[in-house]
Amino acid sequence: MPDTLRVNELPEFAALVGHREDFGPTHLRDLFAADGDRAQRFAGSVGDLFVDYSKHLITDRTLDLLRELATATGVFGLRDAMFRGERINVTERRAVLHIALRAPRDAVIEVDGENVVPKVHAVLDKMAAFAERIRSGEWSGHTGKRIRNVVNIGIGGSDLGPAMAYEALRAFTDRSLTVRFVSNVDGADLHEAVRDLDPAETLFIVASKTFTTIETITNATSARTWLLAGLGADSGSDAVAKHFVALSTNAEKVSDFGIDTANMFEFWDWVGGRYSYDSAIGLSLMIAIGPDRFREMLDGFRQVDEHFRTAPAETNVPLILGLLGVWYGNFFDAQSHAVLPYSHYLSKFTAYLQQLDMESNGKSVDRDGNPVLWQTGPVVWGTPGTNGQHAYYQLLHQGTRTIPADLIGFANPVDELEPELDAQHDLLMANLFAQGQALAFGRTADEVRAEGVPEEQVPHRTFRGNHPTTTILAPELTPSVLGQLIALYEHKVFVQGAIWNIDSFDQWGVELGKVLAQRVEPALTQGAEVPGLDTSTSALLTAYRGMRWR
Ligand code: F6P
Repeated sequence: MPDTLRVNELPEFAALVGHREDFGPTHLRDLFAADGDRAQRFAGSVGDLFVDYSKHLITDRTLDLLRELATATGVFGLRDAMFRGERINVTERRAVLHIALRAPRDAVIEVDGENVVPKVHAVLDKMAAFAERIRSGEWSGHTGKRIRNVVNIGIGGSDLGPAMAYEALRAFTDRSLTVRFVSNVDGADLHEAVRDLDPAETLFIVASKTFTTIETITNATSARTWLLAGLGADSGSDAVAKHFVALSTNAEKVSDFGIDTANMFEFWDWVGGRYSYDSAIGLSLMIAIGPDRFREMLDGFRQVDEHFRTAPAETNVPLILGLLGVWYGNFFDAQSHAVLPYSHYLSKFTAYLQQLDMESNGKSVDRDGNPVLWQTGPVVWGTPGTNGQHAYYQLLHQGTRTIPADLIGFANPVDELEPELDAQHDLLMANLFAQGQALAFGRTADEVRAEGVPEEQVPHRTFRGNHPTTTILAPELTPSVLGQLIALYEHKVFVQGAIWNIDSFDQWGVELGKVLAQRVEPALTQGAEVPGLDTSTSALLTAYRGMRWR
């Protein structure tokens, strides 16, 4: 990135502005009519993923110009610096090495001259041994009963990854175990998670990188109270040691909480929270699916890492997906991006991506601290597609906004479906293909008229189309494929952050709310005066206290 020119001043940026003007209102119908092999040309694959990006408002020239922007903004240099373990998280002065979490045993990735890969595998081995002890029943609780319930307590990256992956890979889990996730400081979350569990059979995994996150420590403290009360044990007994383990970078705080650091699974400051679920943070998932499946998932991540690191720009799928997002966000003023999986198992996938993308790229100053003069990360949203079709797809089809969308589907359902449920799969996927088609090509007024629709109804039944989508297909949602999908999005987000010259690896924007909550809490619990409160918040606190029953 040249010192003098900012992103929007680069000639490569200006070339894209001009290209967008020339592009005008070009319709996907025209692009397909003029270009017989665009479906073959604008598709790629990585690992088991087949990615069709032909239904985008692009030509070969668009992609060339976007790649030139990537080169001019230093995307490839930053990528290589990340893989080398350089401190590319500039505001926290940290390396960004989630790729080391899935590196093979013999890889060498150094931070300050120390190879971190042996540490990664030592923790993975320790997790595997522990997971096997739980799965086999060898690890017993305080009363000697076998552990049958696992409750992960964590929030943000210490929750969303394992919670999402547990749902995604349910068909690969040990169905005799109950695995739940508690994140919200709303006591209802913990209450609902444990109300039907036997404490003697329950293991709590307290997942927190910092081990200072108020929601997690509050829930873990309440869980400890619930456990000891249920077991009739006191905190001096071995109950906590048998029923609590920790996943953290902060041994001191783990020990302060009363968890034996022998039962702590470590990770490091070079693993960002939202990039952490293939670290120790994945322990609950590993217990659920077993160490072998967990390693298959890591292999999936690694395939995409290698592709991102080595594939030429012309065929580099995460790069291309990142560039497409830049094209819409910066040159079409698209505000949001929908992720629409056609898989019930991916019900938490978009929530996971929200943190990955929005916590990474929701920034408005560049890496040097200057205000950005270009759009950065989009609002990411979505739910499984079939349900969305009967809710918000109306706006996708006939609303006024440009909302690029990802449609994600699998050629096969999971093995365990009965034949008739397996047969439903083609109907599910027919919906995915139909939506991509309808969004892209719409239905013209003439086509509507040709169906005999009364003239006054024609505008209402016309679909303008021209809504861009990427379609991602894989043979089946396996652990490896899930790893591939997540790595694909991680690197896509990386590419966009690099182009926008923002630090995608810090998250200062979450801090202010935390500080203010701590300042306001005494007003709620002790009726204390909070100095300097604005009149609106002050009135709300008064109203709240008036409504509070206890
Ligand atoms: O507040 C945001 C955040 O710091 C996320 O980045 C992180 O994933 C989450 O909180 C949880 O943090 P921790 O793992 O330290 O409890």
